[in-house]
Amino acid sequence: LSSYPSYIDLLPSIQTCNITNLPENYFLKYYLYHALTWPQLSFVAVVRPRTGYKTNSSGPGLAGDVSGQYPKVVGYVLAKMEEEPADGKPHGHITSLSVMRTHRRLGIAERLMRMSQRAMAESHRAHYVSLHVRMSNVAALRLYRDTLGFEVEKVEAGYYADGEDAYAMKLNLEKMW
Ligand code: ACO
Repeated sequence: LSSYPSYIDLLPSIQTCNITNLPENYFLKYYLYHALTWPQLSFVAVVRPRTGYKTNSSGPGLAGDVSGQYPKVVGYVLAKMEEEPADGKPHGHITSLSVMRTHRRLGIAERLMRMSQRAMAESHRAHYVSLHVRMSNVAALRLYRDTLGFEVEKVEAGYYADGEDAYAMKLNLEKMW
């Protein structure tokens, strides 16, 4: 699990993880905007390539390497600070979270979330963190409500593109200041 120094190099792999796991997808520039604007808040979980992978002429891990040398992203949390908080309170927001099926139920999502929450509190003095989740998403709801302690603030009818309602959820972070 790592707050990876060359996070920007991993953006395509983060995007692949997102597309594989969720119907809500984003242009690459939106990931880049998060990385440039709130570099402390987003985290990835990676598996490193095993030794013995084919290398290309520029050597392992360099830009443009297509030989499989980059770590593979198996989970990410994409997070930001709300830019114009309606209540005037600086707070964080989880834009997207997912973990590859092959790596679920290992505690990765919980850890990614806790790392982002801590960074929101310590780097930005966020009062709370908010997110939206589909009402049918049992796994994510369990994670947010039962494991992390989020509370449902309200239901947002027809929030998703396919018409499904969302729970808008919040977790207070002031105790982490
Ligand atoms: N069923 C019931 N509870 C679950 C499940 C599940 N399938 N998965 C996680 N939980 C709960 C459990 O309480 C679990 O603790 P336990 O394993 O000790 O019982 C706790 O969450 C922590 O689980 P993690 O192992 O940290 O969760 P994981 O790494 O597997 O990731 C996630 C959970 C992100 C919801 C994953 O299932 C996933 O990627 N789903 C598809 C994408 C998705 O729904 N993302 C969230 C959308 S909302 C948003 O992005 C803001």
